Amino acid sequence: MLAIIGGSGLTQLSSLENVRREVARTPYGEPSGALTFGSLHGREVIFLARHGYGHTIPPHRVNYRANLWALKTAGAECIVSVASVGGIRPDCTPGALVVPDQILDYTWGRASTFSDGIDALVRHVDFTHPYDENIRRRILSAAREVGEAVIDGGVYATTQGPRLETSAEIDRFERDGADVIGMTGMPEAVLARELELPYAAINVVVNYAAGREASMQGIHLEGIEQVLQEAMLRVRKVLARLCQS
Ligand code: HPA
Repeated sequence: MLAIIGGSGLTQLSSLENVRREVARTPYGEPSGALTFGSLHGREVIFLARHGYGHTIPPHRVNYRANLWALKTAGAECIVSVASVGGIRPDCTPGALVVPDQILDYTWGRASTFSDGIDALVRHVDFTHPYDENIRRRILSAAREVGEAVIDGGVYATTQGPRLETSAEIDRFERDGADVIGMTGMPEAVLARELELPYAAINVVVNYAAGREASMQGIHLEGIEQVLQEAMLRVRKVLARLCQS
């Protein structure tokens, strides 16, 4: 069963049918909200709003471990994450959809492993390729089939947030190789890997990163909402197709 973790702009999947909600408890506490089960084009999916259904949980306070654990326990076999990002690479302009293939992690202080017990065996998971290539391909094919342009590959840099970056930080991340920047990609991706849940992401570029193009003098938050709403219509089309594949 496919699980979808929705970020800003995707706090519910209105096209789900036969919806049922389940409150989940995990050894790591409570997930961001009840899990929503339903069918999308005849396929069972689970949906979870990363920031809560009222969008009240900031990126550094999301209980990523509980979210991933709850989805796995509920029967998720793979995960597609939807998350908004700032664009650093010139072609990652507002409105673009990116299916990233690499990650940089600048977060700190987040519970980022299940391998955390004093007496438990230490596990080092392979994370050379953080996103599952098979799911990436399925997303790219689904997008192609519904005629939505997507950028295949990109380096997703994860910052701590919730503040946005300085332009010097964006310069540094660019030198490090970052193409897009968001606040939630980690530890979500690595926790999925630890649970052996194939995981891939659709990133929605909602603004130029700080100090770039229209964000040269600052990021205009008013413009973001409109880009987000419009782009999420396209993401929903891709997700609907993905469920049919
Ligand atoms: N920076 C970090 N996270 C983001 C941004 C950004 O510019 N836009 C959307 N999420």
